[in-house]
Amino acid sequence: MEKVSAELMESIDWYIESMFAPDDAALQECLRASEEAGLPAIQVSPNQGKLLYLIAKMARAQRILEIGTLGGYSAIWLARALPADGTLVTIEREAKHADLARSSLAKAGLSGRTEILVGPAANVMRQLIGEGAPPFDLIFIDADKPGYVEYLELALRLSKDGTVVLADNVIRHGEVLQENPADANAAAVRRFNAALAAETRLESVLLPIVRSRVDGLSVSVVKHQAAGN
Ligand code: SAH
Ligand code: DHB
Ligand code: MG
Repeated sequence: MEKVSAELMESIDWYIESMFAPDDAALQECLRASEEAGLPAIQVSPNQGKLLYLIAKMARAQRILEIGTLGGYSAIWLARALPADGTLVTIEREAKHADLARSSLAKAGLSGRTEILVGPAANVMRQLIGEGAPPFDLIFIDADKPGYVEYLELALRLSKDGTVVLADNVIRHGEVLQENPADANAAAVRRFNAALAAETRLESVLLPIVRSRVDGLSVSVVKHQAAGN
């Protein structure tokens, strides 16, 4: 088989982006402000943002939970998929990131349907469970990789039949194929992928996400419990 170069992958990503995920003032401003503040540029790609938006729309999501806000780039895509009375709750450990995201979401006109909860994700999720928060229709996991297995377990407790669960960075340029990845994050994600594959409450697949490097998005749906299938 012919090798796929990084250049070709990038060109394909750009071909799709230029037709299907053109950016706009709010997305540009979010990235500009994030860069100016020195945040790492590890947000989802425009095509992946569009994919998150479409999945949220297909799920007719009214309540979305995001774990890992950064500067609010993926939050803008997800919040735009909500009806006007919908809610995106997004969890971020770093106050600086949360402040920036709050400002970018406001400039995008999305303050009314977004809530940023600041703190370590597992604590915040346990607090939501304790408060009896209504279940979410879509949960996007994108924070620290060693936390993923725990976030999945907590996400299931904040779900109902049909809830869509997504997680970013599940391929890590193929590092997850190694039995013992040298990189701790890749090793953590490999454990997450195994937990996901073994999780009987979910039906799942991993979707390669191609840019200049290959990463991936896991896509899962919570099974209908009563039917047992
Ligand atoms: N979803 C964002 C990118 C998130 S990057 C986007 O695509 O635009 C990961 C974020 O998770 C960072 O902002 C980091 O500060 C945050 N994070 C890391 N560990 C965390 C934890 N334990 N709890 C909550 N947030 C955490
Ligand atoms: C990286 C990318 C991400 O999307 C993320 O959530 C964390 C790290 C990275 O490329 O290093
Ligand atoms: Mg990510």
